[in-house]
Amino acid sequence: INFLVDRDREFILNTLLNGLKMLEYRGYDSAGLCVNGDTDKDILIFKEVGPVKALRDKIDKQPFDRKHIFNSHSGMAHTRWATHGIPAERNSHPHRSGTDNEFLVVHNGIITNSKELRELLEKFGYVFESDTDTECVAKLAKYIYDQQKKIGSKKALSFTGLVKMVCKQLEGAFALIFKSTHYPNEMVAARRGSPLLIGVRTAKKLKVDFVDVDNDADVLTEDNLSTEKPSVRRAKSRSFMGADGDVEPIEYILASDASAIIEHTKKVMYLEDDDVAHIADGDLHIHRLRRDDTLSSMRTVQTLEQELAQIKMGNYSHFMQKEIFEQPESVINTMRGRINFEDGRVLLGGLKSQLANIRRSRRIIFSACGTSYHSCVATKALFAELTELPINVELSSAFLDERLPVFRDDVCIFVSQSGETKDTLLALQYCKERGALCVGVTNTVGSTISRDTHCGVHINAGPELSVASTKAYTSQFIALTLIALKLSDDNLAKVERRREIINGLQNLSSNIKKVLAKDAEIKDIAYKHKDITNLILLGRGYHSAACLEGALKIKEVSYIHAEGILAGELKHGPLALIDKDMPIILMMNKDKHYVDVENAYAQVTARFGNPILICNEDDTNEKIAKSLKIRVPGTTDAIQGIVNIIALQLFSYHIAVARGFNPDTPRNLAKSVTTA
Ligand code: G6P
Repeated sequence: INFLVDRDREFILNTLLNGLKMLEYRGYDSAGLCVNGDTDKDILIFKEVGPVKALRDKIDKQPFDRKHIFNSHSGMAHTRWATHGIPAERNSHPHRSGTDNEFLVVHNGIITNSKELRELLEKFGYVFESDTDTECVAKLAKYIYDQQKKIGSKKALSFTGLVKMVCKQLEGAFALIFKSTHYPNEMVAARRGSPLLIGVRTAKKLKVDFVDVDNDADVLTEDNLSTEKPSVRRAKSRSFMGADGDVEPIEYILASDASAIIEHTKKVMYLEDDDVAHIADGDLHIHRLRRDDTLSSMRTVQTLEQELAQIKMGNYSHFMQKEIFEQPESVINTMRGRINFEDGRVLLGGLKSQLANIRRSRRIIFSACGTSYHSCVATKALFAELTELPINVELSSAFLDERLPVFRDDVCIFVSQSGETKDTLLALQYCKERGALCVGVTNTVGSTISRDTHCGVHINAGPELSVASTKAYTSQFIALTLIALKLSDDNLAKVERRREIINGLQNLSSNIKKVLAKDAEIKDIAYKHKDITNLILLGRGYHSAACLEGALKIKEVSYIHAEGILAGELKHGPLALIDKDMPIILMMNKDKHYVDVENAYAQVTARFGNPILICNEDDTNEKIAKSLKIRVPGTTDAIQGIVNIIALQLFSYHIAVARGFNPDTPRNLAKSVTTA
């Protein structure tokens, strides 16, 4: 944050802590922050392992003047998800250049050359306090600052100039914010590969809705660690916020995620890779780390549509529960304005410009991670059926490991709730380099994937805060189904099949409500099974994805070992696991695979297995009568998986709560994995 008028320290601390609180959903293991001390030469740092509340409690116990007033103040805060080094106070951010806190840094991403930088800085006498990759950034800033002073440049080195020099030494991905006692009340932020946005808060209506970007990059020499005098040219920003005679102060809040700032402002500007933002005294300047003529030199201020109420828990006990129950509306929001249920027309504005090219493609490749990957698995068969194209579904990380051949006439679809998952971003980069047409399917407007793809579809599920994805999955499933419908709307042979699916989509919201109405029944089954240690989820065809996704949900929030197994594979190995003690969930919906699933049922019960069935409401099969079951409304085979997954989401939620876990903050997991 960079706040301007007469704010006391308590206000500043609360703003930072509340911002962290709003980001809690992303998953983290420790938190930290820093604020100005009583003089310009003093910065206070607080860190604590565990929840934001623990950090707040710790700060509450510290003796300092809470009422100290600042006319201008910069503070920063961070929640950490351990990558380099265990969760510990010394590893949490901000990291510092030395014991007198001259340069402080918070960082998202990963610095891949941190080992080399650390070794070098250690040789220069720097003593590291943490095991993180980030600490070298703070120490490097101090080193370069001292070197520049030694050289004795005529013009004082600006904070931006210094940060540019630091960033040029960094490899990997970063969203970095710097604070320094040498530049009190200024902040500099830089991004490459990790998201960063700037919230603009002002009482006055903004007269400008963009800032010019200084694209005159490379104002400093390449070899920043050399002791040679760099040729410093002043960066020129042609215009900036507040330059129009505003007397009202403009305050800025930098964040990796809009949820942290929505409480203060809806005006945001997304930084691009290699942007360096400098904020001082209500002025914002954006500079570039390197020139890029393909990139616009404007950054527009956008208005967020997200409401604060959307990211509050309301009457629910957990975000996961709230988000499960939001699905009757979120699925409608995904379809809103996109399907005409009368004539079956599908409109996807975000694909329009590339539709002809997509239709001409020779193959469709999906790339995603986690739950998003499962939404691709769920719609793969439908894509193949409707488009009659070969379809590949790849986990983003495996895609890169295997370096699959990708061609210019391939269409690659990147599915990601956050739009920021590093593995998926890397896969996108890989496919773009090979000339493929890249389509993004994300829930986050302004995210890197939605900006870096050629075209795409936003799933419009609304903010999803629970680490375990629920409503984003069903909305991804629908968005992908809509794409398949759109791509086949010129194929007369598919008219009937398309109609069937569209009818299914029309009834989806009410079918989801019917499953949610079984909450108490599902809770009861979950509580009865709360002590299990293993679970097998079995299904075939269209339901394989629900098995995989259901198993992932259970693993994520209840830490039970759960495995989704394709029923066709049962006899090729997993059958060996079946006995009277192995809990099993079997998807037994009425579709073309029903007989095969009955076979699986017979194979399992012959080994004294006792499956819980997920079956259709009207199924009178006597096997069902004998078993524990959750009856769900039947719908078209291709979207039955959406109805079934609601039951599994509720089951996993309840079993986690029954076991005493908070499903919103599963151990070791993060909502958005921005490191590869
Ligand atoms: C993390 C989350 C998962 C999510 C996956 C992909 O692992 O914990 O819930 O499915 O990332 O995230 P994305 O934002 O790309 O959908």
